[in-house]
Formats: sequence, C-alpha cells, structure tokens
Amino acid sequence: MPDTEQTNNIFETGGIFANRELLRVGHVPELERVVGRDDEVNSIGQALGPATIGGPPETTIVYGKTGAGKSLVTRCVAREAHTEAETNDITFQHAYVDCSDYQTETKASREMARQLAVNLDADVDVPRVGIAAADYRDITWDLLDDFGVDSLVVILDEIDKLDDDELLRSLSRARESGKSKTHIGAICISNKIEYRERLNERIDSSLQDNELVFDPYDAGQLREILDNRTDAFEDGVLEGDVIPKVAALSAKEHGDARKAIDTLYEAGRLAEKQGTESVTVAHVDDAVKRAEVNRFEKLVSGTTPHVKYILRALALLTTDNPAQAAFRTHRVYNLYVTLAQGEGAEPLSEDRVYRLLKEQSFLGVTESNHTGGGQGEGSYLEHRLLRDPEIVVEALDVSA
Ligand SMILES: Nc1ncnc2c1ncn2[C@@H]1O[C@H](COP(=O)(O)OP(=O)(O)OP(=O)(O)O)[C@@H](O)[C@H]1O
Ligand SMILES: [Mg+2]
Repeated sequence: MPDTEQTNNIFETGGIFANRELLRVGHVPELERVVGRDDEVNSIGQALGPATIGGPPETTIVYGKTGAGKSLVTRCVAREAHTEAETNDITFQHAYVDCSDYQTETKASREMARQLAVNLDADVDVPRVGIAAADYRDITWDLLDDFGVDSLVVILDEIDKLDDDELLRSLSRARESGKSKTHIGAICISNKIEYRERLNERIDSSLQDNELVFDPYDAGQLREILDNRTDAFEDGVLEGDVIPKVAALSAKEHGDARKAIDTLYEAGRLAEKQGTESVTVAHVDDAVKRAEVNRFEKLVSGTTPHVKYILRALALLTTDNPAQAAFRTHRVYNLYVTLAQGEGAEPLSEDRVYRLLKEQSFLGVTESNHTGGGQGEGSYLEHRLLRDPEIVVEALDVSA
C-alpha cells in the first residue's frame, strides 16, 4: 500500500491554469472568439458570399504582418461559409494548404486534393508520391464532380513559400478551360509585403483588385483578444492589471496577437513554477525579459567567443557609464582585451575588433557612427549598443 502522506505528486501543476490549451500556439478559436477584426471578417465574408449561394467565390490576396490574424480569420470565415451554404442547399467546400509545409507545386496540389477528400469524406486514394502535380489536380476536379460541389475555395497560406504560381493559375482557369464545373476561388495569404510585387508581375490582373491588408493589432484589440482567453486561468488568479500590461507592451513592440498570447502564457507559467497564488505584472515583466534573453541568445549562439567578448565589453561600458551611450573603438578594445585575457584567450588586433564591431552594426545589434573630434583630431568611430545591456549580459552568460 503506498503511503499517500509521503507520495509527492511529481506531476502536480499548481492552481494557475484551468485550461491552458486556450493559450497554446495552434489553437484555432471559433469565430465567436475572434475579436477586433470585424472589417476583415466582413471583407472575407464578401469574397466568399457568392459561393454560399452557388456562385463564384472571389479570389482574394490577404497581406499583413505576422500574428495579425490572417490565417485565423480566413479559416474561421471559410468554416462559417460552409454552414451558411448548407442552409441554402449549396455544396460549398474549402481546402486549406499551408505552403510552408508544402512548398512545391506537386506537394501543394496533393495537399489540396487530400484535404478535399477528407472534407468530403471521400473514399479515394490520393497517392503520396509518384504522380505529377497535374494528376493531383485531376483528382481534385474528379472529386468536385463526383460530389457535385457547387463552389470551392482553396486557401493558400504562406503562398510566398510556394515555388511557382502554376497551382494558382490552374485554379483560376479550371472552369473556363472546362476541367471543372465547380466555381473555384482562392484566398492567398502572405506576411511578405514584397510578395505583392512579385505576384503582380506574374498573375492575371483580375487578381489584383481584391487585396486585403491586416494591420497589426493596437492595444485595445489585443486587450480584447486576451480578455477573451481569461478562462484559461483559474478564477481570480489573474491580477487585474496583467492583461492591460501585456496588451500595451505588445502593441508598442509588434502588434502580434500570437506573441501577446504567448507572453500571457509565459507569465502564467512563471507564476506556476514559483508556486504563487496569482499572476502579477512582475511575472509579465519577467516573461518579456526572458523572451528577449532567449532571442538574443539565439542570435549570438552561432558567433565566435571574440564577438561575445566584444559585445560584453560594450554592454559593460554602457551599464557603467549611464550618462554616455556611445564608445570609441579604442575604449571598447581595451575592455575587450581584459575580458578575452580573463578567459585565457589571445586577443585579436584592434583593427580586427573594429571590423567585427562594424559587422555587428550590420546585424542591427550595435550602431557605429563617425563623430568629428575637436579641431585637428580627425573623426573617429563610436559604437552604441542597440539592446538592453542587462539582457545582453544575461544572454551571454547563458550562452557562455
Ligand atoms: N482577432 C483575434 N481574436 C482572437 N485570437 C486571435 C485573433 N487574431 C489572432 N489571434 C490569435 O493569434 C494567433 C495568430 O494569428 P494568425 O495565425 O491568424 O496570424 P497570421 O496573421 O496568420 O500570422 P502569420 O503571418 O505569422 O502566419 C491565432 O492562432 C490566435 O490564437
Ligand atoms: Mg498565418
């Protein structure tokens, strides 16, 4: 008989989360949980509207920065269109293809056919390999025909990853070329605004009319999105100023809902780890800082020890001289030499360090500017750290 008094539950999770799934990446909420995107929901609704009454869906290109809700809104509205079409006795189908997972025309065409077969509950074999892209598309046209599908929308997410435009072209021509009787449209999604130029050069001008841009979220919208997920936490655990803080920080930094939700989750996890009873703004600050340290650590993890000594030297100078932000090469060099020697490394030449500093400024970690000295002094280069020195030092400690 196990002695329950002494058995520690090693899987004990603490009393912070009631349903952590709601804060996890990959969770696709229902349309009712999609907030702050009414205009975008309506625009996609307009594009899909004709398809819900048996007409042609309008092909649309959706742009916007990462975490702006493009994939979510598109998928939710497509799901909704399906229901709406049913009430009109129309067979509407959609296939979702994430082109970052299926980057060739063949793989994407296969995924389209496979998704359609799954959605139709069709008993067909979509071979994994061995047939050409055009054959996968033929399977698609056959499925549409066999099931009497009136309208189809293919969502091509992250379309900039796709190696060519043939799939999109064949979708837009399928009906006029007599391959399919179904009305077919596409929703193309990209977070690369440069892609717009590329697409405009290569694709039919008719596609260019329907462009939809998702702006980054503002603090109010992020707050709404986060407020909608508070049931992820146990009652009363989340202090009142936590969500406004996460929303304000996220709006200022990126306007990315995914990152904002992640910050809230990480704050909760820290509280859980510390065994506290509530999640506070201090947990939020800590979560943000840890994320920054992680990002910076990843950035420097591939560099040489000497680059790390240089960055540490600049960070220490910045912390020790609050009144000054930029430091001459020679000053950075002197401290670098001390740090390198302290680690038992042979220091590089000052010229080499100068060049490594310039390299870092190309990477956006530091900034190097010429400053005119006094008369006759000539100009010299000054280096400024563009990151929080405390975070830089912490990341360097971790990666050491
Ligand atoms: N309006 C919203 N309401 C509720 N949750 C949202 C909203 N927008 C985004 N989210 C949440 O943020 C996550 C990221 O959104 P989404 O995947 O749609 O971003 P995206 O614009 O497609 O970004 P990427 O370009 O990186 O693919 C979603 O899974 C969802 O959890
Ligand atoms: Mg997306």
